[in-house]
Amino acid sequence: MPASSLDQIVSLCKRRGFVFPGSEIYGGLANSWDYGPLGTELKNALRDWWWERFVTKRQDMVGLDAAILMNPLVWEASGHVANFNDALVDCKECKARFRADHLIQDKDPEREVEGKDPAKLSSIISELKIGCSRCGKKGSLTDARTFNLLFSTHLGALQGEDQREVYLRGEIAQAMFVNFKNVLNTTRLRLPFGIASVGKAFRNEITPGNFTFRTLEFDLMEFEYFIEEKNWEKIFDYWLTEEQAWLREIGFSDERVRVRAHTSDELSHYSKKTVDVEYQTPFGWKELFGLAYRTDFDLKNHTEKSGEDLQYTDPESGDKFIPHAIEPTFGLSRLMLMVLLEAYDEDEIGGEKRTVLHLNPRIAPVQVAILPLSRKEHLIAKAQEIYNQIQDQTNLRVDFDVTGSIGKRYRRQDEIGTPKCITVDFGTLGEDDAQGKKDTVTIRDRDTLKQVHVPIDSLIDVLK
Ligand code: GAP
Repeated sequence: MPASSLDQIVSLCKRRGFVFPGSEIYGGLANSWDYGPLGTELKNALRDWWWERFVTKRQDMVGLDAAILMNPLVWEASGHVANFNDALVDCKECKARFRADHLIQDKDPEREVEGKDPAKLSSIISELKIGCSRCGKKGSLTDARTFNLLFSTHLGALQGEDQREVYLRGEIAQAMFVNFKNVLNTTRLRLPFGIASVGKAFRNEITPGNFTFRTLEFDLMEFEYFIEEKNWEKIFDYWLTEEQAWLREIGFSDERVRVRAHTSDELSHYSKKTVDVEYQTPFGWKELFGLAYRTDFDLKNHTEKSGEDLQYTDPESGDKFIPHAIEPTFGLSRLMLMVLLEAYDEDEIGGEKRTVLHLNPRIAPVQVAILPLSRKEHLIAKAQEIYNQIQDQTNLRVDFDVTGSIGKRYRRQDEIGTPKCITVDFGTLGEDDAQGKKDTVTIRDRDTLKQVHVPIDSLIDVLK
């Protein structure tokens, strides 16, 4: 069963080094999180799998690693300066700030709020007689007003007029549009093809929360898939099945994944059709991945604003046109949180409770743990030899653990999702009575708890 509360995951993440509160020794910084040793491995493994599946192994996809700071004109052309807004209200009494739609949904979860303008949200807030959810005062909330989500900073050493306001990217997508011509001129790609990118995006979210679900900076993986307009529906459906297929490969159950189409009110300013792939979290159904048909909105606007010709020339007909774009987008930080929620389980072995992460072996932060049965020097030396052999001959992530009883070490590895534990014991050295155990190790499976003896000679093949 997946985790029934977010607290279970937050506690596991802190306890075992997946995610720590940001700047913790200074009292933290609200809603900032640092990925610890295990979290970094897990997030990188998800990222690398995504890159391999959607970029390296496809002939129609290339990568881009772009700058976070871009010319501010990019964000004007993309419509983000004018339209990338949330509606917020302030409490005049205690100065707390809230997202208007969140306040409404906290009071009435069924109420449709997506895409409503600030005036409409304000009237729903008065209709429902919503007060400040921090100090409890009624009638203390201001009217809702728009708040731009782009994070701004300043270029230039001198304060004041010499400084220039720039934005930290609110999505990675714009770099793919802005570099469309560069990619086209330096590759032999023909439509349809995609440009993919992975990296940090930044949003001045008014109410971040739910651990790493909504944060001010987050890791995003997305691509723009450039097409001819007439093919958009077919290609849109194709990418939706690909997003769902990857979730299944990772190990998500279909029962906790659903697809929800955006209403016309809810569509982003650039989109003609958007669907969210949602996951059933302990705090409700929430967006995990998105898929948008951005039409030729971005390339057309960048053509107009920059004066550059961003058309594509059909090699057969010679026709020139601005391609349309389908955009599959995958929140990486959010994916990692939902992977942990889905993999989390508590069960009992021999009357003893254990916490276990049923992670797909491909993304487990530790894939194999070597556990010498005791601290006897010659046993540790043998175990170290086996550890070195696995390190040299595979790309597996291997841990070497000698501290605590063997049962305790199994529990520890289960809790971080290690699929296989290898025990090196006196049988391995030919020093106990058990017949035929010399030069073998015991492999224990995290999920079935089955133990098998494997000759050291064939260990690498078995693990692979
Ligand atoms: N280029 C399209 C785009 O950025 P989006 O739906 O706004 O679309 C993409 O964001 C994905 O990024 C979402 O599906 C979600 O997984 C993730 N995401 C969005 N805002 C986030 C936040 N504040 N914190 C963490 N992840 C976020």
